[in-house]
This record gives sequence, structure tokens and C-alpha cells, in this order.
Amino acid sequence: MTNGGLEHKIKHLYQQNRRTVDKYSYTIPSSNTYPYQWLWDSCFMAITMSYFDVAQAKQELRALVSKQFENGMIPHMIYWQHTDIPDHLKIAWGKRQTSSITQPPLLAEAVSKIYAADGDIKFVREMLPHIHNFHRFFYRDRDPRKSGLIGIINPDESGEDTSPRFDQALELGPSWTLAENYAARMELVDDWREARFVVRQRMDLKHWVRDLPLNCILLETLNQTARLASLAGEAHIAEWSLEHAEKTSKAIREKMIADDGLFCSTMNWGDKEMKINIRTWALFMPMYAGIATHEEANQLVGMMSDPDFFATSYGVPTVSVDEPSFDLENTWPWPNWRGPVWMGSNWLIVKGLRRYGYDEQADQLKEQSIQLIEKSGFREFYNPFSGEGYGAEGFTWGGLVLDM
Ligand code: GLC
Repeated sequence: MTNGGLEHKIKHLYQQNRRTVDKYSYTIPSSNTYPYQWLWDSCFMAITMSYFDVAQAKQELRALVSKQFENGMIPHMIYWQHTDIPDHLKIAWGKRQTSSITQPPLLAEAVSKIYAADGDIKFVREMLPHIHNFHRFFYRDRDPRKSGLIGIINPDESGEDTSPRFDQALELGPSWTLAENYAARMELVDDWREARFVVRQRMDLKHWVRDLPLNCILLETLNQTARLASLAGEAHIAEWSLEHAEKTSKAIREKMIADDGLFCSTMNWGDKEMKINIRTWALFMPMYAGIATHEEANQLVGMMSDPDFFATSYGVPTVSVDEPSFDLENTWPWPNWRGPVWMGSNWLIVKGLRRYGYDEQADQLKEQSIQLIEKSGFREFYNPFSGEGYGAEGFTWGGLVLDM
């Protein structure tokens, strides 16, 4: 496939997945499985569309922030219209038309891309208050003890619902099924609704994971927000964002490094704070956030090129192949973040590699991502050894290769 051919296919897919309700239009991740609007998906899509349809990229984000809660949270799902796919509708989130949890905040990244494409500072000014309020929500509601690290209350908030990073926090027995995993996550939803969405005390009692990717994304997004705010003449937002970025950056270095020297997530269970020492692609996120030292980056790139850990034929598996939780089997109808390759994680890793000057490795990962699309089409996730595609079809994340 030529680059032009690939771009044409991406545009076509995005047109097929576009939906319009009243004055809003947005893109669904996949018409056979995901017929609603999702938060980080929409950011991925706005980034992709900044290459061929900036106007629609802006619409995508406007639709997203139109449902921002009063406390600043942006819900991770918006049910714009009813569909016949039953599963998602059954979730009792306790809110009208949206979910009651969130997802990683990639909005500033998307707005930066849009600004780079057309220099529309008015759009930056329109989005800044939404972005800033979202970030303030994280520090106020998800870091009640002012540790500098943000907690998530459900694995789904990480965007990686079935990742083994959350197995222990979900308190599932050793040989659980994905159906049980789903049920445990739904129990958290019920709890959250019954707690009337009040986070206080919850971190001592329930699922409270300070997840490495989300904290790295927040750190990077704060730095990007500061840049956008300076351009827009919003000195207060710029200052606040830099101050919080500094705090989170310190906290990641102080609290998110395990005994083996690798970065990790942490969790609270009762009054205990523990490190989650499972090797997933999350290890590479400190490169995306620019917080790894050059030696650490070098060690990480070593693991990425080692077949005992993360080197495969088709990109970086979401879990290291040497982990007992590495699992390519359990796929349908659940998303599988326990080994398969996803385009969203590949994209974040590519950005980290480029940031540290590993262009050769970044190009290779980009090529492998393109090969996956050529071989198996736009799928939700892929087998890292055979390139076989799994899960949702016509899945939009493949568009991110344009930005790789
Ligand atoms: C799956 C993914 C999640 C994504 C959603 C919609 O649940 O795990 O990251 O946002 O699908 O594509």
C-alpha cells in the first residue's frame, strides 16, 4: 500500500464511522462493537484528522467537551444515540447519556495537533477552559491527599480495562475468566453510583490505583497545556499547569520506581500502599512524558528489542512475553490488553522513542504498525507474532499511523 493509499483508506473509514446528532458530530471507534463516543478514542481520532480534516477534528472535541461535568470530569463514554448493540446499554452508570468515570486526558495533545495544522488560536482559547477544568478535577478529586499522583477508581479509566496491572486490585482469584473480570469491574461501577460519586474515603476502601500511563499522560498534557496557554495569553493556566506538572513529575520519580529500577504503577489497599510490579508496555510511558533519564531510556529500549520481553514481529505487545499473565487467547467479545498489540500504545511508544532520539526504533514500530493494517485491516488489536487481527472491525485507532 502506498502512503496515499493508506491515507485514503483511513479517510474512508473515518467517514463511515462519523455520526451526527443535533449540532454535534463525532466518530465512533467501530460500528460493529463500539457505537458511541469515547474520550481517549476521540482524542486519537482528532489527532488523526488533524492531517486531513481539521474542521472535523475540532467538531470531535467540541462534542466531547459538551458533556463535561460540573466538577470538570469528562466522561469516558457519551451515548449520543440509542443503538441495538445491547451490552453497553446495560451498564448502570447512574448518569443520563454518559458514563460516570473518565479516561486518560489526551485533549491538550489533540488541540496542539490541531493548532499545528491551522494556527487557529481562537479554537485553542475555546478549548483551554475545558482542558484546565478537567485537569483541576484530577488534582482535586483524584488526589485528595495531595500526593501529586492521580488515582483511578476502575480499570476502565486507564483505557486498558483487562490489563494485568489491575488483577490484584480487582481481587480476582488466580484462574479467573474474562467474564469474572468484567463482573468485578461492573461491581465497581455499582459501588461508585451507590457512593453518589463521592471519592472521599474511597481510596482507603476500594480500588485505587495510581496508574503509570495515566500519570505520564497527565504530566505531558500539563506541559502541552502550559504551552498552549502561553500562546493564548492565559498566564494563570500556564502557571498552574507547570506547577502541577512539576509536582507530578517529582512524585513519579519518588514513588513509581520499583526495586528492580523499572517504573511501575502503585495501588492502595486499605492503609497499605503497594507497587505493581508487572511488566506491561506502560514501562515505556516515562519516555512519552520525558521523565526517564537517558540511562533509563536506554535500558527500556534494550527491553523493547529483546525477544524475551517485548520484541516481536509486529510491534510492542501490551504485556511482556515473559509475564505469566501474557495471553493472546482470550479475545472475543472482550478487549484484550494482556499481550496483543494495540495502535494506541504503539503510537504513545513511538512518540517516546522520538523524544529520546531513537528514530530508527520509532520508524521500525511505525512500519510494523502499517504492516498490521496491510495484513489484517483496521482491527481493535493484533497478535504480535502472526499479525492476525482480533476484536472490533473497522476500528479507528489505526489512523494514528499518520502521526507516527
Ligand atoms: C475498549 C478499550 C478502550 C476503548 C474502548 C472504545 O474498551 O479497552 O480503551 O476506549 O474500547 O474503543
